[in-house]
Amino acid sequence: MTEEKGIDVGLRQFIKNLGYVAGGATLLASAPWLTSCTPEKLEEIGKQKARIGLIGSGSRGQYHIHNLLQIPHAELVAICDIYQPNLDAALALCPGAKTFSDYHKLLEDKDIDGVIIATPLSFHASMTLDALAAGKHVFCEKAMALTLDDCKRVYQEYQNTDRALFYCMQRMYDEKYIKAMKMIQDGLIGDVVGMRCHWFRNADWRREVPSPEYERMINWRLYKEYSGGLMTELGSHQLEVCNWAIHKMPTYITGLGDIVFWKDSREVYDSVSVTYGYADGRKITYESLISNKFNGMEEQILGSMGTMDLSRGVYYLEDDNMVPGMRKLMDEIKTGVFASIPTAGPSWRPELRSAYVPHPVMEGGFGVTSGESMIGAVKDGSDVILSAFCQSCITGEKAKDVVEEAYCSTALCLLGNEAMDRKMVLTFPDEYKIPYMKF
Ligand SMILES: NC(=O)c1ccc[n+]([C@@H]2O[C@H](COP(=O)([O-])OP(=O)(O)OC[C@H]3O[C@@H](n4cnc5c(N)ncnc54)[C@H](O)[C@@H]3O)[C@@H](O)[C@H]2O)c1
Repeated sequence: MTEEKGIDVGLRQFIKNLGYVAGGATLLASAPWLTSCTPEKLEEIGKQKARIGLIGSGSRGQYHIHNLLQIPHAELVAICDIYQPNLDAALALCPGAKTFSDYHKLLEDKDIDGVIIATPLSFHASMTLDALAAGKHVFCEKAMALTLDDCKRVYQEYQNTDRALFYCMQRMYDEKYIKAMKMIQDGLIGDVVGMRCHWFRNADWRREVPSPEYERMINWRLYKEYSGGLMTELGSHQLEVCNWAIHKMPTYITGLGDIVFWKDSREVYDSVSVTYGYADGRKITYESLISNKFNGMEEQILGSMGTMDLSRGVYYLEDDNMVPGMRKLMDEIKTGVFASIPTAGPSWRPELRSAYVPHPVMEGGFGVTSGESMIGAVKDGSDVILSAFCQSCITGEKAKDVVEEAYCSTALCLLGNEAMDRKMVLTFPDEYKIPYMKF
């Protein structure tokens, strides 16, 4: 751990990389949640430490422990889990922490400032509400809740509390996303005309269970009682960036979801395809499949002058797609061939992706992701958002728009699931609109 006057060097470096200058108004305009964790504010907290309790010490919870141990202004003081092997594994990472099997008991502990909630989705809302009621600051994993009513309950409670509430949508604290959003908002890719996101993997999402009675608890992702499936597990991150890119919400939602390949008594779809339509005609096409990983993971913001591929940290300009020399000649021959076929017609052009030149968003290259688990991914923003949360546990400052962004993306995931279940085109329901949303 690098420590310098109690300042989190990682967080400071992150903000420096973004070109932050004191009061950095332009940067903060495209990512207003960073106002709670500027380098000046970080300096002010000196050597104070946030005392953190972790609820849910499974895969993601243990990943957060690794990050917490690197944050100078954080101290993990308590861990809670109902599954002893996961509690033991977490305790081995942080041997001094108190342990609990009932999270209510952890919340009664007056020596805890803030809690991390890394349990299955079905517990997020009730645990968040209980933790806020107990006076704790809360860092909850995405998504916000399993139902729209629970999202609304949490959102309303958040309006009435002075506690900080974060949702772990780490892209909001990932340098390449922040920089790319600024470029989009500065007009680099022209008018945003559509968005195209997908996440493809080839893995069944199953975990081994020690005996059958643990099946639903350990493989919670596969059951509707606990999980919103691909939409809330993967889509929640990607739909958030769509909202962030254009600050608008879609009005119409429709899609198809099926269990195509993993027919193993799971209840959630292993294949989803959802279209979100905006009032002005733009669309997000969202697709996820976990039985073929050829396409990996991408979040493309499509503009009239270029394309921003957020997850790769690369952009392409329409003007770069000029076909040079030999290639042009060959293409003309091909075009000529196609021109003589009535159905293809002379309008056919080689509109190939390979003809575009990739430009990196950040100096020093491209971030490439295979779409595999993000757990363990380096510099994906998870450490930075956690550091910002620990800072808020000390200062009491809420992070602007984080809860609102979580609400918007979770609502889109849940409505996507509903549209697929009912095989209908839904209109965004008025009762779940919040003032932050613009349609
Ligand atoms: N932000 C991201 O990129 C990211 C990545 C992975 C997972 N996640 C999220 O993290 C959360 C956890 O996912 P995971 O993969 O770690 O699941 P997991 O099953 O590995 O861990 C969940 C843990 O919660 C415990 N738990 C369940 N009910 C509990 C209760 N009532 N009290 C205390 N502990 C309880 C389980 O025993 C388990 O140890 C999910 O919401 C998931 O969507 C987010």
